[in-house]
Amino acid sequence: MGVRLDLPDEAATRALAVRLAAHARAGDAIGLKGPLGAGKTTFARAFIAARAALSGVEVDDVPSPTFTLVQAYDFPGDVEQSPTVFHIDLYRIENSDETIELGLEDAFASGVCLIEWPERLGHLLPRSRIELTLAPGASESARIAELAGFGAGKKRLKEAGYDDR
Ligand SMILES: Nc1ncnc2c1ncn2[C@@H]1O[C@H](COP(=O)(O)OP(=O)(O)OP(=O)(O)O)[C@@H](O)[C@H]1O
Ligand SMILES: [Mg+2]
Repeated sequence: MGVRLDLPDEAATRALAVRLAAHARAGDAIGLKGPLGAGKTTFARAFIAARAALSGVEVDDVPSPTFTLVQAYDFPGDVEQSPTVFHIDLYRIENSDETIELGLEDAFASGVCLIEWPERLGHLLPRSRIELTLAPGASESARIAELAGFGAGKKRLKEAGYDDR
């Protein structure tokens, strides 16, 4: 089904990221969907900054992984409590077979993965996940968000206060 949210401005998108970041656990994945400029990277930056803050550190730079495809963010502390966040951008992937070479198994198993253009993973897309789809809203700065949970992602959404029935 999914949960629909109105995000009137960028601060609302960041607040959503902060809330989901507070509930994310090792092994979680969030697929970030929506057209170019929808706000996927903006969400990811806020999410990573929030995870850093939870570990008592700051991240100075969260570059868009358009060219590197994968950026890993390690945080101090216990790996279960402070898993590595992987920011993955598959925009440049044309064939889902190319993603096999990225060796994302470990990231999916033990990290928290934020995946822009998740549909490009094909059958490698984690079955347990949250999907966040961002669409243009009524104004320049507004977005409409749709949250859907699959497998453990459904539970996680509920824990974060978004009940996806
Ligand atoms: N409500 C909003 N949520 C997110 N971004 C917003 C919002 N309003 C305005 N913006 C702006 O829209 C742009 C979103 O760019 P961003 O790089 O996050 O998009 P993207 O979805 O990652 O695009 P791409 O597919 O090119 O990677 C930013 O310039 C941001 O400041
Ligand atoms: Mg992006």
